[in-house]
Amino acid sequence: MSAMNIYLDYAATTPVDPRVAEVMAVYNTDKFGNPSSPHGFGQEALEAVEYGRKTLASFLNAKPNEIVFTGGGSESDNMAIKGTCETRWDKGGHLITTAIEHHAVLHTCEFMAKRGFDLTVLPVGSDGIVDPDDVKKAIRRDTILITVMHANNEVGTIQPIKEIGHIAQEASIPFHTDSVQTFGHLPIDVQEMNIDMLALSAHKLYGPKGIGIFFIKEGTPFIPLIHGGAQEAGRRSSTLNVPGIVGLAEAARLAHTSLESEHKTIAKLRDRLLNFLLSEIKQVHLNGHRTRRLANNINVSIDYVEGESLLASLDMEGISASSGSACSSGSDEPSHVLTALGLTTEEARGSLRISLGRFTTEQDIVRVESVLPEIVTRLRDLTPFGRNA
Ligand SMILES: Cc1ncc(COP(=O)(O)O)c(C=O)c1O
Repeated sequence: MSAMNIYLDYAATTPVDPRVAEVMAVYNTDKFGNPSSPHGFGQEALEAVEYGRKTLASFLNAKPNEIVFTGGGSESDNMAIKGTCETRWDKGGHLITTAIEHHAVLHTCEFMAKRGFDLTVLPVGSDGIVDPDDVKKAIRRDTILITVMHANNEVGTIQPIKEIGHIAQEASIPFHTDSVQTFGHLPIDVQEMNIDMLALSAHKLYGPKGIGIFFIKEGTPFIPLIHGGAQEAGRRSSTLNVPGIVGLAEAARLAHTSLESEHKTIAKLRDRLLNFLLSEIKQVHLNGHRTRRLANNINVSIDYVEGESLLASLDMEGISASSGSACSSGSDEPSHVLTALGLTTEEARGSLRISLGRFTTEQDIVRVESVLPEIVTRLRDLTPFGRNA
């Protein structure tokens, strides 16, 4: 990508921070040992892994032995759900989740429902927030897991995780949260928030792709999905991705040294662009809660405009954004998140997600402001209703 190109899709993935890449490089070449090997090369790699584990545990207020390295967010979500169901294979049980989860959670829960587990999928309000009371009411005697995401990847809404965790704890039900969009962006304290299991992924916080964490609180019932060499205390076999772990730990360290200041800078740029969109273009609606949302997230529906056409036009201007979850793009279905918020198919199809990040500049925002109104007018002119908008 040339310097002219503007990346505004940080919720899909982030570039590896050059400082992270630098720290990782040596673990691909000189310090390439297998941490399970007892010799010097192995021990050197093991030291880096354990340092990473300790660092990451400290940012979650967890114990190092509660951190299991995985291949990313989807794997960690699967481990939480299938690993819990596996402990009750013969007896069955009831799962509670929400309608706006990432497919890594939703499809996994639906898969388990096909295997005989009962599933409650809770609705959300039109602002995209889950009501903790609904969670409480959904609990049954045979509920074995509650899984609610920390913040949504499409509309950025932040859920009342602490309250939901408290409800789960009172009922002695394991609570899992998908923190893929929040770790490194919002403070997380697994003890204070009553979290038993948590998924996170390095590529959303300027770390490499294909590495993540499954946090599991000591004593939480769980059966591993991947058997083999019994790495990670038997919880996830496979040779450890040492450069990935080192990269994730460094990415987390960098994120936590500037968590608040970065949050402020990004929110300021986000608010500027959001206010522009809402005031300078007619018939634009914000999706998701106005304030209880990730600092970098804008999700709007623009009447009489197809999101896909809008994205293509922005792309021609060198601006990369999204009209929903990158993971489900290519499908014709409107976003399950936006429909859960009560949007019509048309409104959902007219959605635009702009997600800012560490390397977004004011000039980037100025450029979007300078091209977007014209693109919207041109696209609206193609439709009879749009022309009169
Ligand atoms: C909320 C959420 N959960 C899970 C995932 C999947 O993570 P990964 O790409 O590391 O498998 C994503 C990625 O888009 C996400 O946004």
